[in-house]
Amino acid sequence: MKAAKVFILVLIVGLIVIQFVPSGIPGNKPEDDKNIINSDLLSDPVTELIRKSCFDCHSDQTELPWYSRLAPVSWVLANHIKEGRSHLNFSEWEGYSEREKISKLAEIKDEAESGGMPLKSYLLMHPEAKMNPEEVLLLVAWTEEVSARILE
Ligand code: HEC
Repeated sequence: MKAAKVFILVLIVGLIVIQFVPSGIPGNKPEDDKNIINSDLLSDPVTELIRKSCFDCHSDQTELPWYSRLAPVSWVLANHIKEGRSHLNFSEWEGYSEREKISKLAEIKDEAESGGMPLKSYLLMHPEAKMNPEEVLLLVAWTEEVSARILE
């Protein structure tokens, strides 16, 4: 066999074998989870925006695409979801202290203004999640308003 054929064979066998390694994608929690961000804090447009652009990595209600079943892509998704939830989880929001909320709101504002979130790799597969300039302004104004309410 030529080296190229051996290489392709090894690659195919390798891809099959890694499908048996668990992806580690964390599970979802029920929608009525008690610590989910209080709806009083959210207007409809803000709810829609964060659901569309942030919830897949920053809540316990991740909607997984079909390719989330395919290793090694699934490992990357697992990592984004775990990391994303550990930095900011809207499903855990009401469990954060006031101090944590204020610091997370400031981080959300920074990420929105700098265009750092949603992650670029996510936008490739979810172009609809990209925030337009009005949506960025909406999210920034929301972070300021909620911080002001906490500090009142
Ligand atoms: C594809 C998954 C994904 C999506 C979608 C996503 N994030 Fe993230 N986010 C991450 C990951 C992973 C991290 C941690 C690593 C990092 O900072 O890059 C993170 C970190 C953060 C942080 C913490 C930054 C810090 O300084 O520690 C904030 C705030 C944040 N994201 C806000 C958002 C907002 C707001 C949205 C929606 C507009 C969003 N993210 C969408 C994956 C995501």
